[in-house]
Amino acid sequence: MSKKHSMLILPGDGIGPEAMVEVKKIVAWLEEHKSLEFDISEDSVGGAAYDQYGTSLADHTLEKAKEVDAVMFGAVGGPKWDGVDYDKRPEAGLLKLRKELNLFANLRPALCFDPLVDASSLKPELVSGLDIMILRELTGGVYFGEPRGITELSNGQRRGVNTQVYETYEIHRAAHVAFDLAGKRSGRVTSVEKANVMESGLLWREEVNIIAKDYPNIKLDHMYADNCAMQLVRTPKQFDVILTDNLFGDMLSDIAAMLTGSLGMLPSASLGEVGKGALYEPVHGSAPDIAGQGIANPIATILSFAMALRYTYNEGDAADLIEEAVNDVLANDIRTADINQPGMTLVSTSEMGNHIVDAMQKLES
Ligand code: IPM
Ligand code: MG
Repeated sequence: MSKKHSMLILPGDGIGPEAMVEVKKIVAWLEEHKSLEFDISEDSVGGAAYDQYGTSLADHTLEKAKEVDAVMFGAVGGPKWDGVDYDKRPEAGLLKLRKELNLFANLRPALCFDPLVDASSLKPELVSGLDIMILRELTGGVYFGEPRGITELSNGQRRGVNTQVYETYEIHRAAHVAFDLAGKRSGRVTSVEKANVMESGLLWREEVNIIAKDYPNIKLDHMYADNCAMQLVRTPKQFDVILTDNLFGDMLSDIAAMLTGSLGMLPSASLGEVGKGALYEPVHGSAPDIAGQGIANPIATILSFAMALRYTYNEGDAADLIEEAVNDVLANDIRTADINQPGMTLVSTSEMGNHIVDAMQKLES
């Protein structure tokens, strides 16, 4: 008997809900045609939760997130909540989820689908075949460090403080994940920090070197974050696994996403200790400027669900099927606005979802 896969869907704000509708179509197809069984619940998060519950992550939602095998997360944030206090802001709900579920390892694979090599802002030969894995540390660093806050000074000025802080165990566990991933890929890790100006970066480098000794077959090198940003747009294929902290990982993964053609293409998995919670979300944000128009690209969210199938539900075949279907649809020149090019067929969010389901059906028959 197949096990029921429990999943909490948190569509969130902006284009999150529209993209999630397309994931639900795929879930329905898998249930009908591949006899996978899901036990799905759904709730609000981010601005939507703030409007509904007065906080961006309600306690009962957090409890549910801890119970289920995986959380499928859309996106949070928007100008509507710009004035809300930091601890109740849409983004705080996401950070709290990551922290409370202890999801310290954020996998952001930047993969250039062949049909999209011309959609990248870089020359096709630079991105063709691109396959980078960014391992972003997700529960530490400057997004969580104390002290933090804005204070009034006696001279009438104000001071804003955030603290970049890492401890040995945080670096070690992230490094282990990166080295393990590299072992299943091309065997190279580039560890990225700013050891030239930050003590936390120096510690990062030294501690990564210690973990590297356990992995004699992995080639490790170190790179400063600013240089890495530049190298990513110069010769991105030099990288295999990039291991980096929370802040630099946030930035470098946006850059890497663009290499693949669009921010609308990049999925991510946030994992903690094995078997103890997982969250899957697209790297793109809520894109309030295009929300509700039916033009958003649902592929990053769909590919995030494929990652859930692979990493949490052990349904690698279903994950392969989705990824192959996405490739086929792109190869048939079906495009949402963000990846559209002259002569191709421009489709809506929901049409893109339908095309992907149809392609899955075709691959199966
Ligand atoms: C991301 C996003 C989030 C982050 C925001 C929405 C809090 O940019 O997942 O990359 O900064 O981590
Ligand atoms: Mg980001």
